[in-house]
Amino acid sequence: MFTNKTLNRFEHSRWSMAVLFVNHGHGVFPAFNPLCSVFLHPMAYFNWNDSINFLTKLRPRRLWNAAKVYSSFQLTKLTGNPVQWGYPISISFEPTTSCNLRCPECPSGLRAFTRPTGMLEDSFFKQTIDDIHKDLLYLIFYFQGEPFLNPDFLKMVKYAHDKNIYTATSTNAHYLTDEKAKQTVESGLDRLIISIDGTTQDVYQQYRVGGKLEKVLEGARNIVKWKKALNSKTPFIFFQFLVVKPNEHQIEEVKKLGKEIGVDQVRFKTAQVYDFENDPHQLIPVNNKYSRYKKDASGNMQVKSGLGNHCWKLWHANVITWDGLVVPCCFDKDATHQLGNLKTQSFKETWHNDNYKQFRRELLTSRKNIDICANCSEGLTVWEN
Ligand SMILES: C[S@@+](CC[C@H](N)C(=O)[O-])C[C@H]1O[C@@H](n2cnc3c(N)ncnc32)[C@H](O)[C@@H]1O
Ligand code: SF4
Repeated sequence: MFTNKTLNRFEHSRWSMAVLFVNHGHGVFPAFNPLCSVFLHPMAYFNWNDSINFLTKLRPRRLWNAAKVYSSFQLTKLTGNPVQWGYPISISFEPTTSCNLRCPECPSGLRAFTRPTGMLEDSFFKQTIDDIHKDLLYLIFYFQGEPFLNPDFLKMVKYAHDKNIYTATSTNAHYLTDEKAKQTVESGLDRLIISIDGTTQDVYQQYRVGGKLEKVLEGARNIVKWKKALNSKTPFIFFQFLVVKPNEHQIEEVKKLGKEIGVDQVRFKTAQVYDFENDPHQLIPVNNKYSRYKKDASGNMQVKSGLGNHCWKLWHANVITWDGLVVPCCFDKDATHQLGNLKTQSFKETWHNDNYKQFRRELLTSRKNIDICANCSEGLTVWEN
């Protein structure tokens, strides 16, 4: 019924909150790549079970909050003055900055952070969730690092699940042993993204440096097995294939692999490349459909999004690092724009503090002059068929 083009137009105008809710995997509530900016999903990625599950998380207060956030955003766009009446609909919580792999465009992989490496503490997590769960609909359990390295990770998922929040995570799937896979299903996790960026070891390891494809496949089989054995509708499991030059010829292969293993979907994501002008690791794919960048008239690479002076992500979501720093979004991987610190200020105070107000105002004035915004995919499709 919808072509991608009509769907995109429809999403851009965001004329119906109801449809956006149903379309959480496609619209307002990105699978958030997370690294974040998964805004517009092709209709091919719609899944009934997952959407119905998501709808069961709606509560009058959460809907009311979402309506406040949405209308604040629209009014801000109209007047150019930052207004924020609600609280975030979606939050990314970082379980850890540690990682077992060395992916070349990831600060965790490169061990390139200036901020400390550590693990989110269960008690701090619970305290924050207690503060915001009545308004919060969607919890993204990843930012940088490998979530399953945090020993309390599934305990925290269960806590959020018990508060009826939709929970999603992304993993390199190296720790999904039989027992962990069972515990993952039992935790109530709603969405599991399995990062698989190749169908053969030689291709897989070109992005997933240090990784073993066989482990990923074993982990995926374990989770599919336990979901069936426990007769559970969750998690909604998908293979996420980050399309880069070394693997773009394996797109059809990974679809077959996904079917063979029994995951619910296979999704294709475009990659962020820090130095997209020079592309030092030669990752930008030849097929432009899978690239976030394009050449301008003078032959220079630029971000496809166009960088208009507004940002829905800044209005409806944010990110909390493992040690409690609040940053605007997942593009601030090194927490250079600290808007607050939850160890010294409550979440609700932070969301309306002067730093936040100032950052919203700066974005409305000139988004392209904010370093993290200059390579951002907000307003752009990052999931492709
Ligand atoms: C930083 S990772 C952390 C979670 C986990 N370690 C993983 O790899 O799935 C968060 C997400 O970013 C994706 N990702 C990694 N490198 C990326 C890039 N250059 N551009 C866009 N997404 C990327 C991963 O596939 C994953 O879904
Ligand atoms: S596995 Fe995830 S966190 Fe680790 S280096 Fe790769 S993208 Fe980064």
